[in-house]
Amino acid sequence: MIRLALRVATADAELVLAELLELVPAGVEEVDLGDRVEYALYGAQSELPPLPALRAAAGDALVDIATSEIADDWASRWRSFHEPVTIGGRLHVRAPWHDRPDRAAGVLDVAIDPAQAFGTGAHATTRLCLQALLELDPQGPLVDVGCGSGVLAIAACKLGWEPVVGYDHEVESVAATRDNAAANGVAVTTAELDLLAGGPVPCAPTTVANLMRPLLLHIAAAGFAGESPRTLVLSGLLAHEADEVAAAFAPHGLRERDRRHGNEWIALTLVA
Ligand SMILES: C[S@@+](CC[C@H](N)C(=O)[O-])C[C@H]1O[C@@H](n2cnc3c(N)ncnc32)[C@H](O)[C@@H]1O
Repeated sequence: MIRLALRVATADAELVLAELLELVPAGVEEVDLGDRVEYALYGAQSELPPLPALRAAAGDALVDIATSEIADDWASRWRSFHEPVTIGGRLHVRAPWHDRPDRAAGVLDVAIDPAQAFGTGAHATTRLCLQALLELDPQGPLVDVGCGSGVLAIAACKLGWEPVVGYDHEVESVAATRDNAAANGVAVTTAELDLLAGGPVPCAPTTVANLMRPLLLHIAAAGFAGESPRTLVLSGLLAHEADEVAAAFAPHGLRERDRRHGNEWIALTLVA
């Protein structure tokens, strides 16, 4: 088994992490080295992304890349960096191998196996969406565009939205959402959808999209299938991108109600 470590400048680490997660959606180990951050991937040589792709993802922030053979405890190390998170004191998002929260505490339990999909709940962009959902009235249908592991869709079901539909262009994400929903005992309808394939984007009165600026602008340009959402939660934005993306949805009758920050990330709640 190989441990492949990229060291990058701390100032650019969040941006590099976003790029890396496109290549390695299940996550990377993060080690704080002061002025640098090390992101480590584990796997057999054939399972790891090629070095040129990793170099491109890290860009100018790259300090060095090192590979080392490791003992067979990699599986437990991989598991150990998926830490459970509690959002707003009401939602506990954990991996299946972590303990359930105490039922008596009234916290909703969301168990997510990230498999090959993005979204353990620990990433700031996901946390910001979950925080935004906690502040909404959980009524009626919800669509999750870019559902990854299904964490947002499943949390939405547990909070009270119904029916909930998750779309993703990756077959692994659609499968992960379906499997995680079943494991959590909730009903999420899933479908494969490439947002870039053209045509208006499916939505519901409450729609959530944790994507990045280019895809969010693409949705604004493509428009919605049927009536625009009444509430649209957008995440995956950097601070300097938020105004542009909020403005792009104004022609759909949506205005900014709330902007929340986590590390360098921003999530917007737009309402009709
Ligand atoms: C940042 S992840 C968000 C996952 C999850 N919703 C969360 O909040 O943790 C973005 C998701 O969008 C999906 N995605 C990226 N490009 C897409 C496209 N063109 N069409 C549909 N889904 C896409 C990715 O596969 C990924 O699962």
